[in-house]
Amino acid sequence: MDIETYVRELPKAELHLHIEGTLEPELMFELARRNGVALPWKSVDETRAAYAFEDLQSFLDLYYAGAAALVREADFFDLAMAYFERAAADGVVHAELFFDPQTHTARGLAYETVLDGLERACVTARERFGIGSRLILCFLRHLSEEEGFATLEQALPHLARIHGVGLDSSEMGHPPSKFARLFARCRELGLHLVAHAGEEGPPDYIVEALDLLQVERIDHGVRAAESPALMARLVREQIPLTVCPLSNVKLCVFATLADHNLKAMLEAGIKVTINSDDPAYFGGYVGKNFVDTATALSLSRSELKRIARNSLEAAFVSEAERRPWLARLEALEG
Ligand code: HPA
Ligand code: ZN
Repeated sequence: MDIETYVRELPKAELHLHIEGTLEPELMFELARRNGVALPWKSVDETRAAYAFEDLQSFLDLYYAGAAALVREADFFDLAMAYFERAAADGVVHAELFFDPQTHTARGLAYETVLDGLERACVTARERFGIGSRLILCFLRHLSEEEGFATLEQALPHLARIHGVGLDSSEMGHPPSKFARLFARCRELGLHLVAHAGEEGPPDYIVEALDLLQVERIDHGVRAAESPALMARLVREQIPLTVCPLSNVKLCVFATLADHNLKAMLEAGIKVTINSDDPAYFGGYVGKNFVDTATALSLSRSELKRIARNSLEAAFVSEAERRPWLARLEALEG
């Protein structure tokens, strides 16, 4: 079995995926036309050519500009269905989708428009592809905690329709501590908690996410490698890291995939997973992230299997949902 086939056969969960980051330029232009929205680019080719990033912020500027094409409930449905189709083809059995309501409500869209479209896609994906899913509302950390509370207010009448909350956008200068009260409230409400930390920010941000926000997983977390004490803690507590290798290279966190610390983290005993983050912008969906990383870092089949197992174990699902996926995984070679 070649590596592409092996990776596709691995039952896996995608746990770090911004649904707005799956907006391919073709669909972006189609939606912009159908909604009468002006984009900053003239064509699909010009859009793709603009995807040369030097850091997280240079990406976020384009990512928020592209999201302007999304206006109607059907747009969010189409967006998520396009993702689910690709994910299913990559052997994803379960996906936890991040969405950024503040990006849309700031443009005058109703929170319900976003949620309705995404949720309808989750239901349809289960029927059409047998894929399970969860929705995780992300707060934009460049905005204030007060604005985060206002977004939580909008989500409250529909709380059972989301499974957790996360924290994304510009990391530097916006430490997890800024959102300690908001996350405490979300914890009281029974939501699962995750946060981006240690993508560009220092190891201290990861410690804050764990101690002050009490998150269950860390999104990215690659800068943990700079702190031996934090590494030991992540191993001891088996905190899952949702690592996104192609994203890290595109945003210059690592110069090349061969320089990525994913294998070293895995060998140190950290519960590493592989995810695509914003695949329309970073050059590949989760299958390509697995294959390219395995090639660059010479990951063995048993290491790939371990990474897929980690993702299934770290998913916010019941043991009854998890068990058949794990059984399928263990039946594979490696
Ligand atoms: N980091 C922070 N915010 C984001 C990202 C990311 O990788 N993708 C979309 N929003
Ligand atoms: Zn992310």
